[in-house]
Amino acid sequence: MEKVVLAFSGGLDTSVCIKLLEEKYNMEVITACVDVGQPREEIERPASVAVDLGNYKHHTLDAQREFAEDYIFKAIKANALYEGYPLSTALARPLIAMKIVELAKKEGATTIAHGCTGKGNDQFRFEAIIRSMSDCDVIAPIRDLNLTRTEEVEYAKSCDIPLPSDKMYSIDENLWGRAIEGDILEDPMVEPPEDAFSWTKSSTDSPEEPQILEMEFENGVPISLDGEKMGPLDLINKCNEIAGLHGIGRVDIIEDRIIGLKSREIYETPGAFLIITAHHALEQITLTRSELKFGENITSTYSELIYNGLWHDPLREDLDHIIDHMQRRVRGTVKIRLHKGSMRIVGRKSPFSLYQQDVVSFEDKALDQREMTGMVKNYAMQAAFYNKICKKD
Ligand code: ARG
Repeated sequence: MEKVVLAFSGGLDTSVCIKLLEEKYNMEVITACVDVGQPREEIERPASVAVDLGNYKHHTLDAQREFAEDYIFKAIKANALYEGYPLSTALARPLIAMKIVELAKKEGATTIAHGCTGKGNDQFRFEAIIRSMSDCDVIAPIRDLNLTRTEEVEYAKSCDIPLPSDKMYSIDENLWGRAIEGDILEDPMVEPPEDAFSWTKSSTDSPEEPQILEMEFENGVPISLDGEKMGPLDLINKCNEIAGLHGIGRVDIIEDRIIGLKSREIYETPGAFLIITAHHALEQITLTRSELKFGENITSTYSELIYNGLWHDPLREDLDHIIDHMQRRVRGTVKIRLHKGSMRIVGRKSPFSLYQQDVVSFEDKALDQREMTGMVKNYAMQAAFYNKICKKD
């Protein structure tokens, strides 16, 4: 029998895929779950479901550090956001696909399978990598059979696949955030019920007292919280915890998917918002106006590459070079005030600060104001000509 490696989360879609791959495609299924910092239960569940469903050979592939250092840190330096979404799922997909490709090679499998539907973005992100990094065939059973969620449930019942409890949300979690879609959330006018959230407190339940947090950066990435040095993983986890406690990072948007569908997406990305906000505040004091302006273009292009599953496009690497060069000066400390769902930068300092307090101060004479007279007088020359010449009646 031909071997297939299935990217397996233990949820409904991929559990249905195991059985379909056996029954309809006649294949020997090996399952794998890549650890990109999802909660422990999400790592343990696929391993136990793989056993329960029929003793399938299952692998847990640890990619947490790689995800934090080589993916999230790059996204922070680029301030990556797509339509207000910090790209948590999108950023992890290429890494997951690469790990699955490595495993398929080791296992001598000629096919890789995933549980994506034909409507979402992840099919593009997985397959772009699989096809670029291997000669494996790809099977997407849910898409191939054009199954609806209800048909999946019917099929699951017929082969004793355990069903998710009451809510039918589709959830994807990793170190950089949590995405919640589907079920009642598909109606864009329905307010997400409190049970959709698990990383963030509602502002009514968050602490009465504000918290002031100091985050230190070096080369554009965070290295310490309140003076305590931390590795990337611990630091990001801690940021999720602190910002989540204060109700930061809930997002409810209509998002433009790759295929053009608009979809309603809910996210909880407390750490991502906290870190990117602090990072950008430090850029404002260390980078020039032109760098900041150009940085907006970088953010937009970089974020689209991630969203569109083109992490391995050479343009991403090209951009990394310019970003890294610029980020050498993004060093210093940012002070953030967190309170009841809101977050505000209340301080920043840097050894490379371009903010010259003495010159800008109302009290100082270092800059002779009189020297500005001619510059101001001749400012907006073209607008002046336009208004005087063209608008004459
Ligand atoms: N819309 C997001 C993206 O394309 C998240 C998808 C998350 N998937 C999920 N099953 N909730 O990156």
